[in-house]
Amino acid sequence: MTKAIEIENFSYAYPDGTIALSDVNLGVEHGEKIALIGPNGAGKSTLLLVMAGFVRGTGKVKIDGLEVNRANLRSIRACLGACLENPEDQLFMPTLFDDVAFGPLNMGLSHEEISKRVADALQTVGLPGMGDKAPHHLSAGQKRAAAIATVLSMDPKIITLDEPDGSLDPRNRNNLVRLLKRLSQTLVIATCNMNFAAALADRAVLVNKGRVVAEGDAGKIMRDLQLMVEHGLEVPGIHFS
Ligand SMILES: Nc1ncnc2c1ncn2[C@@H]1O[C@H](COP(=O)(O)OP(=O)(O)OP(=O)(O)O)[C@@H](O)[C@H]1O
Ligand SMILES: [Mg+2]
Repeated sequence: MTKAIEIENFSYAYPDGTIALSDVNLGVEHGEKIALIGPNGAGKSTLLLVMAGFVRGTGKVKIDGLEVNRANLRSIRACLGACLENPEDQLFMPTLFDDVAFGPLNMGLSHEEISKRVADALQTVGLPGMGDKAPHHLSAGQKRAAAIATVLSMDPKIITLDEPDGSLDPRNRNNLVRLLKRLSQTLVIATCNMNFAAALADRAVLVNKGRVVAEGDAGKIMRDLQLMVEHGLEVPGIHFS
C-alpha cells in the first residue's frame, strides 16, 4: 500500500555548505502520528521542509505516492499542509479570516464553503469569531494557533508541524495535544519537548546531526535514558537542570 511519506537515501546541504541531512530513510504510514525529536540544529525543520517540497536535495521523496518534483508540487501542497517553525511566515494577510481563507480560495471552493471552513478551523484552534482581527495583533500563542488554522482549513491528508508547542502556555499546550490527538490525518510533529511528544505520538524518530539515529515505538525510544541523554534530550517527566 502507498505510504503517506517515503524518503529514501536523502541528503541535503544548504547553499553555504552546511550538511543538514545525510542519507535519511524514513517511511510514514497513513494515519500515523510521528514525533520527530532531536536537539537544536539536528535537522528536524529541514526534514519537514523536504516533505513539503520547499527543499530539494539528492535521494527520493514521495508524498502519498507522488514524487516530490516541480511538476507535482501543486498536488503535493494540496495533500500535505505544513505548519512552519515561525507562524508569522504563514500570516501575511490583513485579517485572520483572509489568512485562513487563503488556501481554500486557491483551491477554488465556493464562498459559502470557504466561510464554513474558516469558521470551523478558527473554532478548532480556540480562536472562534476572531476572523476580523489583524494577525500581527495576535499574541505569540494565538499566532501559533492561527497558523495551524491556515493549514486545517485546507483539510490536507498529511500535516507537518514544526515545534507547534512553542509559545503556548500549559493550558493551550494541553488543548493542542487534545486537538492533534483528535485529528485523523497523518501527523509529523517536530519538537524538543519530550512531554509534548510523549502525549501525542505513536512512533518517534530521533534525528541528530542530520541522520536518523533511532526510530520506533514512541514510549520505548523516549524512555531510553541513555539514548536520550546521548542526543541532548530528556526522558518525559524528568527534567534536567
Ligand atoms: N538557511 C540555512 N542556511 C544554512 N544552514 C542552515 C540553514 N537553515 C538551517 N541550517 C543548518 O542546518 C542544520 C539543521 O538545521 P534545522 O533548522 O533543520 O535544525 P532543527 O533540528 O530544526 O533545530 P531546532 O530545534 O533549533 O529548530 C543546522 O546545522 C543549521 O545551522
Ligand atoms: Mg527547527
